[in-house]
Amino acid sequence: MLRTARLELSVPEAADADAVLAACQDPEIPRYTSVPSPFARADADQLIAKAHAGWASGEHLVWAIRDAGALVGIVGLYRVDGRGSGELGYWLAAPARGRGLLTEAARTVLDWGFAPSGAGLHRIEWHAVVGNDASARVAQALGFRFEGVRRDALIGEAGRVDGWAAALLQADDRTPQVWPSPHG
Ligand SMILES: CC(C)(COP(=O)(O)OP(=O)(O)OC[C@H]1O[C@@H](n2cnc3c(N)ncnc32)[C@H](O)[C@@H]1OP(=O)(O)O)[C@@H](O)C(=O)NCCC(=O)NCCS
Repeated sequence: MLRTARLELSVPEAADADAVLAACQDPEIPRYTSVPSPFARADADQLIAKAHAGWASGEHLVWAIRDAGALVGIVGLYRVDGRGSGELGYWLAAPARGRGLLTEAARTVLDWGFAPSGAGLHRIEWHAVVGNDASARVAQALGFRFEGVRRDALIGEAGRVDGWAAALLQADDRTPQVWPSPHG
């Protein structure tokens, strides 16, 4: 369990399935994440089960973002490889966007991810579909350094697409970054 000024971050539970189901009807979430489309109740149950399995294996460390107790999104450190690398991933329910909630949640997850008393990571990567400007603004605000375009690297609903890559090292300062436009 992690706390931020406005939010509580904790493991998604079975009781969150309705909120996950409602949020994932927004086409922007399957468009830009590995969430399936169409998204049914069984997919919500599976997302929650996978979060528990991820904590058990240590490979995917996933939190529900809770605003006044209600799940408004998901943030996680994925593909934690046991050698000091992981990947930040996230989505927010559409009504919760535009208030800086994701940036606030992710900042705390990064603090924990890099802390020796947390995941003790050295490098946290960020990957997004080329053109996902909302996610790129978040990554820049968090201090991620742009590393380039990975051709046909991501597999989405429409097949293979190019991906933007960025990363943050444990020793990097977290001042907001300005990436080259249009990000390579
Ligand atoms: C990516 C995503 C999480 C961004 O959501 P968001 O609400 O824009 O992100 P934040 O909560 O950090 O809010 C940032 C925005 O809130 C504004 N804001 C308001 N108050 C703020 C505060 N106190 N602190 C920071 N930002 C604040 C900022 O100006 C910023 O707007 P801008 O990007 O137009 O400048 C959301 O668009 C989403 O879920 N998309 C679909 C899934 C997805 O793409 N996931 C990422 C895959 S790589």
